[in-house]
Amino acid sequence: MEMVQISHRILVGYASKDGATKEASGIIAEVLKKKYNVTVDLIDLKKTSPKLEEYDKLVVGAGVRAGKVYSDALKFLKQNFESKKVAFFVCCGGAGDPKKYEEAYKNYVTDVLANYPNLKPISTEAFGGRMKILGKTVFDTFDSKKIKNWAEKIDF
Ligand SMILES: Cc1cc2nc3c(=O)[nH]c(=O)nc-3n(C[C@H](O)[C@H](O)[C@H](O)COP(=O)(O)O)c2cc1C
Repeated sequence: MEMVQISHRILVGYASKDGATKEASGIIAEVLKKKYNVTVDLIDLKKTSPKLEEYDKLVVGAGVRAGKVYSDALKFLKQNFESKKVAFFVCCGGAGDPKKYEEAYKNYVTDVLANYPNLKPISTEAFGGRMKILGKTVFDTFDSKKIKNWAEKIDF
C-alpha cells in the first residue's frame, strides 16, 4: 500500500521586523483554518526552519526594508516547491500608497519571484505596513480587511 506522507496542515511562514507581516500572517492563518478546517502552522522563519516535506500548501510572507525583501523569507523560498501550492505576499510602505502600489508590487513581488523560476505561486499580493520612529507612527497603512479578503481567495 502506498503511504501518503504529506499532511493536510498548511504552513504560514513569515519574516517580520516591525510586526506588520507577523500580524498579517496571523490573519491569513485564521482565515485558512476556518476555510479548510485544518491545522495551520504559523511560523517565524527567522526562528524556525520548517520542514518543507511536511507541507504541500504554504503561504510565505515578508516585510521590506531599504528596497529588500527580508532575507529569512527569501532563503526559505530557495527550496524546491515542485508539486506544492504556494502563496506569497509582502508588507511594505510602498504598497500602502495607491500611487506607489504598482511599483512596490513590481519591485518586491514580480522582480523578486523572477529569481525563483521554479516557484509558481498560485497567488501573490503586496500589502501596506507600519513604521514607527522613536515610538512615533510615521505611517500606518496596514489593511486587515484587504489581507483577509486575499486570504479568503487563496485556492488551496
Ligand atoms: C528602516 C526601514 C526601511 C524601510 N524601507 C522600505 C522600502 O525600501 N520600501 C518600502 O516599501 N517600505 C519600506 N519600509 C517600510 C516597511 O516595509 C514597513 O515598516 C513594513 O511594515 C515592514 O514589515 P514588518 O513590519 O513585518 O517588519 C521601511 C521601514 C523601515 C523601518
